[in-house]
Formats: sequence, C-alpha cells, structure tokens
Amino acid sequence: MLICSGSASEILAQKIYRRVKGSKWLEIEKKKFPDGETYVKVEGEVKDEKVALVQSMYHQPNNYLMEFLIIADTLLDLGAQEIIGVIPYFAYARQDTRFTPGEAVTFDIVKKLISERVNKLIVVDIHQHRRRGIEKEFPVPTVNLTAASLFADYVRDKLVNPVVIGPDEESEQWVSVAAEKLGAEKFIFRKQRLTSEEVQIETGELNLKGRDTLIVDDIISTGGTMAKTVEALKSFGAKRVISACTHPVLAGKALAKIYKAGADEVLGTDTIPSEISFITVSGIIADELKKELERGD
Ligand code: R5P
Repeated sequence: MLICSGSASEILAQKIYRRVKGSKWLEIEKKKFPDGETYVKVEGEVKDEKVALVQSMYHQPNNYLMEFLIIADTLLDLGAQEIIGVIPYFAYARQDTRFTPGEAVTFDIVKKLISERVNKLIVVDIHQHRRRGIEKEFPVPTVNLTAASLFADYVRDKLVNPVVIGPDEESEQWVSVAAEKLGAEKFIFRKQRLTSEEVQIETGELNLKGRDTLIVDDIISTGGTMAKTVEALKSFGAKRVISACTHPVLAGKALAKIYKAGADEVLGTDTIPSEISFITVSGIIADELKKELERGD
C-alpha cells in the first residue's frame, strides 16, 4: 500500500504512514499557478498499487476538494489499482438537505464527486445531524471512525469521576462511547439553533455540584454550542469542565468564547490542525488501513 497526502494533511498523513508497517510513502508535488489553478505531479510508480490518499477538507474546502479530485484522477490515470480516500474532516456534510427552496444540497454533490474516484472511503465523525448513518449513503464502502474513545483516554487522569455531557441529540453516539470507556454517567441536552452563531440549550435540572465534566461534540465552529453548554454546567455547580470536539473548525473568536464561558480546557483532534489539536486520529486511521493491508488482494 502507498500512502500520500494532499496539501491539507501532510503532517497527519506522515503520522499515519509511520504507523502502517509495510506501507510506502508516495510523494505528490502540489503547487499553485499564479492564477490560482492547481498543479499536481505524482512522484512515483503507482501502477497496480493500492493508494491511500489523505486530505481533510477544512478552512479552504473548495481548494482541498479540488486538489483531492485532481490527485485521485491522476492516480487512476497512472494505473493505480485502488484508491482509499481518507477524508478525516468531510466538509459540506452540514448542507445535507434543501432548507429553503432552490438551495444546493452540497453534501450530495461532494459525495458524488468523491465516490466516483475512490474504491473506499474513511472519514472521522462525519456530521450527521438529520441523517443518522449518513456514511451508508455513499455508493462506495465508507467507514466512519470516531475520536470519542480518544477523548476518554485523554481526560482519564485529568478528571475525577466525570460526568459526560452531550449538547444535543446527535452527540449521544459520541458521548456514549466516551462515557462507557470512562465508566461514567452521561446526560444529553437538547439544542435549538436560533441563528448561525446562537443556540439555546435545554438541559432540565441537574445537580453537578463539585463534579468534573467532559462535553463531547463533533464540531466546534462558532463556539456557540460549547459556550452555552459550559455556562449551563457551571450554573449547575460543575467543578472542572473540559470541552472536546473532533473537528476544531474554530471560526472567529470561538475559542475565546468557550473559555470566557468558564471552560477549564478545550481540546480537539488533528483532523483539522489548530492550537487545540492535542489528540491525533492517526492511530485509528492507521488501524483501519492495516485491516486493508491484511485483506491483501
Ligand atoms: C451541530 O449539530 C454540531 O454537532 C455542532 O454542535 C455544531 O456544528 C457546533 O457549531 P457551533 O460551534 O457554531 O455552535
């Protein structure tokens, strides 16, 4: 198996490669022409090879998506036998429906563009607010990994007998994994989005006096969801609050907003490189690729 990377995920791809014994690194040259067009050159022999292409789609989703398509097409054109697309942060998954007439359902468009060029897809905690099990909608086999158990490992020595909290119903799936690993109690709140930056959280009455807490969600974007959840936990008497997300999009002043609300620590993974990407998903992705290697063919 060859492992290569688009511009978005060079470091993560290297970390994955080092964990997959028996794989080889494939260098891809990527640059921009002065007019903004993308140039790609595959620097190695790929004929009849299985190639894992790692590219997250954060911050410049259109640019990284286009680069992914160009690299994947080139690999196929050069005779690669199979492409495994590794897209740790799958952008556009939130526009999975037509909220008002005339809107593009971008998730379906991006899903089609990518699926036409890969034989298998690996994503991490893909957003699935309305469509649970969204990974099954891809026309190619798709594995949706979760970072939730990594959060449990990370906080184990930092929090005493913690309560694990989900800000909304969607988060239940990740909260359950983390809570089970910690042997902890869990609570799932309900969320209503008021504007793109503001949410209202319904919690019910809770007594968390002196308790440590871990909040788990897939994305921190504007930070509105986390900030409101942290505020609620503090108002219930929580002692320590750690906010964990898989994908630290961190738009605008998201991080400051969450700390201002009273969080003791905010953390995320390296699906998106950021100042809080303390946890790497390279291990869980490498484990999945190792299964592919073992399968052979
Ligand atoms: C929404 O359903 C997601 O699971 C996250 O809760 C959401 O994307 C977070 O967005 P924000 O940080 O803007 O509140």
